[in-house]
Amino acid sequence: MCGIVGYIGMQNAAPILLEGLKKLEYRGYDSAGIAVMQNGSIAVSKVTGRIAALAEKTEHGSLLPGTVGIGHTRWATHGAPTDANAHPHTSNDGRFAVVHNGIIENYLELRKELMEKGYHFDSETDTEVVVHLMEMYYQGDLKQAVMRTSARLCGSYALGILCSDEPNRMFAVREASPLILGVGVGENFFASDVTALVAYTRNAIYLDDGEFAELTPDGIQVYDCTGQPFRKKVSRISWDIQAAEKGGYEHFMRKEIMEQPRAVKATMAPRLKDGQVVLDDMEIDLHGIRKIVITACGSAYYAGCAAKYAIEKLCHIPVQIELASELRYSDPLIDATTLLIVLSQSGETADTIAAMKECQSHGAKALAIVNVVGSTIAKLADYCLYTWAGPEIAVATTKGYTTQLTALYLFALYGAKELRTVDEAEYQKKLQVLKALPKLMQQALDMNPNLEQLAKKYHRAHSMFFIGRNTDYAVALEGALKMKEISYIHAESYAAGELKHGTIALISEGQPVIALCCNDAITEKTMSNIVEVKARGAEVLAVACRDNQKIVSLADDMIFVPKVEPLFSAAVEIVPLQLLAYYVARENGCDIDKPKNLAKSVTVE
Ligand code: BG6
Repeated sequence: MCGIVGYIGMQNAAPILLEGLKKLEYRGYDSAGIAVMQNGSIAVSKVTGRIAALAEKTEHGSLLPGTVGIGHTRWATHGAPTDANAHPHTSNDGRFAVVHNGIIENYLELRKELMEKGYHFDSETDTEVVVHLMEMYYQGDLKQAVMRTSARLCGSYALGILCSDEPNRMFAVREASPLILGVGVGENFFASDVTALVAYTRNAIYLDDGEFAELTPDGIQVYDCTGQPFRKKVSRISWDIQAAEKGGYEHFMRKEIMEQPRAVKATMAPRLKDGQVVLDDMEIDLHGIRKIVITACGSAYYAGCAAKYAIEKLCHIPVQIELASELRYSDPLIDATTLLIVLSQSGETADTIAAMKECQSHGAKALAIVNVVGSTIAKLADYCLYTWAGPEIAVATTKGYTTQLTALYLFALYGAKELRTVDEAEYQKKLQVLKALPKLMQQALDMNPNLEQLAKKYHRAHSMFFIGRNTDYAVALEGALKMKEISYIHAESYAAGELKHGTIALISEGQPVIALCCNDAITEKTMSNIVEVKARGAEVLAVACRDNQKIVSLADDMIFVPKVEPLFSAAVEIVPLQLLAYYVARENGCDIDKPKNLAKSVTVE
């Protein structure tokens, strides 16, 4: 999964490309490169490593003057992170340069065909076949060569293409990978995501699959898959630049953790009208729905696990949570009586897109809950409920997760009203809890000044267990993932009641166990699990409500959370665990916003 940018206009392209790539580094950052049109030829500079290394190598772009260029930041899929495998890739005759985000699934057969025709390859990447196809098909008509090349490709691709024979135009092509055009004055842009555009223009054209565009300094022409030109709507990017900057925090992740009350309020407020939950202008018919399947990856999947309890309890519809990477190949028992809910911050996760298409092909309607406007999942869905979290830059999601929960809670109440599964008094009672979530989350942010001390105590642990029951277990899943993905400490979430069936064998002297114990209905049970692990020498950090004084005598350390209706408690309980993981990672000197091996959105399988 990678990020691509392009510029054509009056300014020097290289500095603009570098700035755009910095905004896209969260999409992948193991190598990078830019290509700039210079006096009828294409100059290329590539590095293994981060954008900063590329900026240094090109002296912030000054070594590559020219007003047309493309750039790329890579998350390696085919071929290790090396200069040769970094994009842009160039044709053997040097007339073409290409940047690509996605996977060319038939690249091996194309590579073989091209090599048999005498083209030589400099890299191990799938992308390089594109630039040789361009050389093969170009006979003076660049648009035609782009169409013929695209017609040979299978898989997912957002492409930026330069041709030195035609220095005043460049092409952008979209198929199953995000690609947005920036409309300027006397200059135009393309990028994988709006954060690379907002510094220059707020006018954006969201290309759809199968579409491609010709960009010149004076304009953009969009074409459909048959090559027919048509007018595409220009949207206004509403995100402000500050929103995509750190705002004074040390890390984007810390900023985004602190933004959660606002993000949850922003997601909820437009959907609470006259004491009712309204889901934008959607009418989702739930009558006849016999099953709800929630599918996602990573933290989004865990958001589904946490919201399952609320949806089942309020809508009386069974909810199945499925990992998208599993669901896409499981030939699922899904039909028109199933409602699919797809969770995705980026709206571009390949496994989630594939699972969604699989379920839709079985007749299910899909409700997408996504954070990125105009993203692939948003476009493919039958219904789309945007989370209004604003840009989430840190690779490990926080406000993306809690706003997904918020949207799911809204859906649960919407469904309860539609299906009349709760009476008005119960409905209003739950609605009040929902409305209080931002305040409760703010309290959760403020009520544990000891978190940094706790991080200093636990940051050298080799492993941690996160245990809980019911809704607490669902939060334990996400709490363990947060700890793993940013502090690199092995952390395992476990159903508290299940621990004694084997895994307790791993509990030895000093083993940290984070025990979530916020659900009054089962607190006693989890406390007995705490006693069991304590008896084997565990060091227990309990997460509980302040009024649970009994647990204070049991646990070695405490994290408190405000008391919340368990059905909606995950959005509050997770907050101190996000902070704990953040402080532990900081103690361990980890790259918190860009953890090793991870990417913000995995748009490849
Ligand atoms: C992972 C991210 O790559 O993908 C996680 O690091 C995220 O934070 C998961 O939860 C799913 O991504 P998305 O964009 O589909 O929510």
